[in-house]
Amino acid sequence: MPALQSFDANVAPTARAVQRAHPLHESTAIQSPPAAHSQAARSDRRVRVEDKRIINGGADVNQLVPFKYKWAWDKYLASCANHWMPQEINMSRDIALWKNPDGLTDDERRLVKRNLGFFVTADSLAANNIVLGTYRHVTAPECRQFLLRQAFEEAIHTHAYQYIVESLGLDEGEIFNAYHEVASIRDKDEFLIPFIDTLTDPDFVTGTAENDRKLLKSLIVFACLMEGLFFYVGFVQILALGRQNKMTGAAEQYQYILRDESMHCNFGIDLINQLKLENPQLWTPQFRDEVRELFHRAVALEYAYAEDTMPRGVLGLNASMFKGYLRFVANRRAQQIGLEALFPQEENPFPWMSEMIDLKKERNFFETRVIEYQTGGALDWE
Ligand SMILES: [Fe+2]
Ligand SMILES: [Fe+2]
Repeated sequence: MPALQSFDANVAPTARAVQRAHPLHESTAIQSPPAAHSQAARSDRRVRVEDKRIINGGADVNQLVPFKYKWAWDKYLASCANHWMPQEINMSRDIALWKNPDGLTDDERRLVKRNLGFFVTADSLAANNIVLGTYRHVTAPECRQFLLRQAFEEAIHTHAYQYIVESLGLDEGEIFNAYHEVASIRDKDEFLIPFIDTLTDPDFVTGTAENDRKLLKSLIVFACLMEGLFFYVGFVQILALGRQNKMTGAAEQYQYILRDESMHCNFGIDLINQLKLENPQLWTPQFRDEVRELFHRAVALEYAYAEDTMPRGVLGLNASMFKGYLRFVANRRAQQIGLEALFPQEENPFPWMSEMIDLKKERNFFETRVIEYQTGGALDWE
């Protein structure tokens, strides 16, 4: 697998991007102009809504307002309102069940371990992709604000998976190395990594049709296929366990993660559609064919992962049910970015998943949440 350590920030392209978008970085900006011209010169630098762009924008990225992309700001506010932390959730029932030799079947244990094996590294890939890649190329400060919140949520998700691994006393080496060692997980990550590498390459800059298309393709892969498709077999599995009153603490955490991820996916789709609107020349028939091909590959990879995690029926689920589900989800993602459905007439075999996505935090579905905790209760002022 290509090394992700090549992410070292190279200041050159970042500085170029900031300079392009931020006139205060021009060397002349620090000289004191004659008093008569001073006010006019400063007024010229005020941000005008019409100068803001999703990519290749000319407005100062340090000025959040005036708003142009209100949908991004609204999603930022909604994400903050959904804040949660993994240690809020009581894992004692999960621990007791896992330690009880009769608590879970071998197939259920395999499913949990393979499931965590994907997720423990997936959200680090997501965080690195945002912080070291996407963020640099997006010139709309409202969208950057959401991306900062999203990056923190990816850290919370990695924390949540680590917290489950630690609570259950699983072999950390086995779980955290699954993305190297388990083929069905490695194949998904190897599909993603070239698109992450494009955005995190220190020499990659937007501004040409070729590179803007590369950026758009990476955004589509990330929002529609990683966050919007590759997470869904795993979410259904753990939430199905929860619905059978098993691993309820883990299931509650996955519910919160699913809610966050569906916001990330919807934000990413809004970003893609706005970028398309501002740059319609990128959306050629050839480009659309390439995107459709990526959707088909992603569905095949996620189905292979479903087969590997569920070699036999488990929890009333089996891999073939996921074939329909993945096609249904892929259709939805394709339509959300303006493509035709790829697999006509697929129906959702798991309608209960839609309810889960709309979860309100106050609704304690599994009734496992620790009620008496205090935010900041660990502070010691002595
Ligand atoms: Fe995440
Ligand atoms: Fe995410």
